[in-house]
Amino acid sequence: MKAVAVTPGKPNSVHLAELPKPRVDDIPGGRGVLVRVLKIGVDATDREINEAKYGAAPPGYDFLVLGHESFGVVEAVGKNVRNLKPGDYVTATVRRPGGSIYDQIGTSDMTSEEVYYERGINLLHGFLTEYYVDDAEFIVRMPDGLKHLHVLAEPMSCATKAVQQAFEVQRRLRVWRPQVAYVMGAGQIGLLTTLVLRLRGLEVYTLARGEGPSLKSEIVEAMGAHYISTKQTPLQAMPAKVGKADLIIDATGSSAIAFGCMQLLGHNGVLVWTSVTGGLQHTEVPSDKVNLDWVLGNKLLLGSVNANREHFEMGIKDMALGEVMFPGVIQRILTTPIQGLDSYQKMMQTLVEDNEALKVYVEVAEG
Ligand code: BGC
Ligand code: ZN
Repeated sequence: MKAVAVTPGKPNSVHLAELPKPRVDDIPGGRGVLVRVLKIGVDATDREINEAKYGAAPPGYDFLVLGHESFGVVEAVGKNVRNLKPGDYVTATVRRPGGSIYDQIGTSDMTSEEVYYERGINLLHGFLTEYYVDDAEFIVRMPDGLKHLHVLAEPMSCATKAVQQAFEVQRRLRVWRPQVAYVMGAGQIGLLTTLVLRLRGLEVYTLARGEGPSLKSEIVEAMGAHYISTKQTPLQAMPAKVGKADLIIDATGSSAIAFGCMQLLGHNGVLVWTSVTGGLQHTEVPSDKVNLDWVLGNKLLLGSVNANREHFEMGIKDMALGEVMFPGVIQRILTTPIQGLDSYQKMMQTLVEDNEALKVYVEVAEG
C-alpha cells in the first residue's frame, strides 16, 4: 500500500513509499485494531519534518511515514477488543509509551524520558497511508455525529490538554476563578483553544497579526471571543485596554512572542506555552523586570505538549459541546482539502505557501 514519507535529515524529501498492508494480528494479545484511513490532517510539524528540522525514522528504516492527525474507520478488531467494532469512526493518539512511570500509567504525554515515540513524527511511522494497525489502547472512538470534524480530534486534544493542565496546576490557589484569557495566535491550536476557553466561560481575547474581518476573526467572534489584530493593538497595549490576563496560552510558533507575553499576565496567573519551535532564534527580554514581576505576582509558566487518551476523550466532548453552543463554527477551520495520497507534493506546497489555510488535510479515501 501507498504511504507519504520523508527521509529525515534530508530537506524536501517528501515522497511516496510502499509498505505492506498491516494485519490485525500484527498486534499481540488479540488487541489489534485495523483502521482504514479516511482523512489525515497535516500541520507545521509535518512541514518542519520535511524541512529536516525535526523527526526521526523508525529503527531499520531510512524513511518516516508522515501523518499524526488521523481519522478513519475500523475494518477489523482482534479477539480481545470489546469497545470497538468494524464500521466505527476513530482517531488515534500520537505518542506511544517509553519506559518511565508516566508511560506505564497511560500518560506518555508526560514521559520523563528524553526520547519520545510519536507516530508520524519521531521513531514511529504515521498514518498518512491507506491502513494502519494499533493496540486498542491508542484508538479513540469518534461519534458518528462528529464525523464532519474528523482530523480536528488530534489538535483539539492538544488544546484541551493545555487548558486542563492550567486548571490542574492552579489548584495551588485553592480557588481559581479566571476571567480574562489571552490566546496568542489564531492558527488551528489558537482557534481550538479559544473554543475550549469559551466553553469554560472565560472572556477570551485571541490575538493574531492580520487585520479583520477575515475567516480567523469571524471564527473567533462566532465563538463569542474578541479578535485582536496586533497591527492595531500591540501586545504590550493589551493590559491597559482590557486588563491583565489570568491565563495566557501561546500558540504562535514564535518564541519571541512566547517570552513577550510574560509581561501581560496578572497576579497568580499562568502562562502556557504550546509551540514546538524548531528554529534557533534568540530574543532579548527585560529579565530583571520580568523576574521581579513574576516573583511578586506568584506567576507560573507551564509547557504543554501532546495529549493522552483522556485528553482525546475530553476534546471530543468539547467538540460536541462546541457544536451545541456555536453550531457550524468549528468546521470552518477545515479550510483546505487535498485529494488523495498521490497529491503529496501539493499537500506540502500548500502547507508552506498558503497562509490563508487554517487546516490542510488529505482526503485519503471515501467513507
Ligand atoms: C503534535 C503533537 C506532538 C508535537 C511534538 C505536534 O504537532 O500534534 O502530538 O506531541 O507535535 O512532536
Ligand atoms: Zn500536530
